[in-house]
Amino acid sequence: MKKIFVICMTMGTMSFASGYTQADRILDMQKMAQAMQDIQSGFFYNNLDIVTAGAQDLKSTIVNVGPTDAEKNNKDVYERWMNNHTAMTGRTQRRIKNYADTLVERFKDGDATQALQIYNRITAECMKCHISLRKW
Ligand code: HEC
Repeated sequence: MKKIFVICMTMGTMSFASGYTQADRILDMQKMAQAMQDIQSGFFYNNLDIVTAGAQDLKSTIVNVGPTDAEKNNKDVYERWMNNHTAMTGRTQRRIKNYADTLVERFKDGDATQALQIYNRITAECMKCHISLRKW
């Protein structure tokens, strides 16, 4: 019985350690930066496939972004609130996903001006979080 308990505890700790880490998030951020560059290249080369692929990468990556497990378990109540509260929530994710879809639609319709405006709105979402959370 004791042995089983120890195994359960170990597995619990292991799965805790393999949760969302800062390294994971940095990787996700780099993927999103690449996706944004791809979208921009698609604009310049007037290539819908590149725009679509970039938007797809962005959408599939933003869903992973959030507080790391360490942040969620931060003992400092204020810091924990900041981390969980500040745009790290589903609202930013949903917004960026919607923008990505609309951007592709507009570009497909031949409205590059609108597509670029939406692109800028996505950039603003990225920077909003960086400014409030990272004080960058
Ligand atoms: C919800 C908050 C949030 C949003 C939204 C967000 N970021 Fe970040 N970003 C961070 C944090 C926090 C870091 C610092 C790395 C860390 O601590 O995980 C970061 C770091 C980065 C970095 C630096 C990575 C490195 O190699 O050091 C890049 C590039 C980046 N973000 C790009 C983006 C782009 C592009 C978007 C929008 C598509 C975006 N971020 C949206 C929170 C956010």
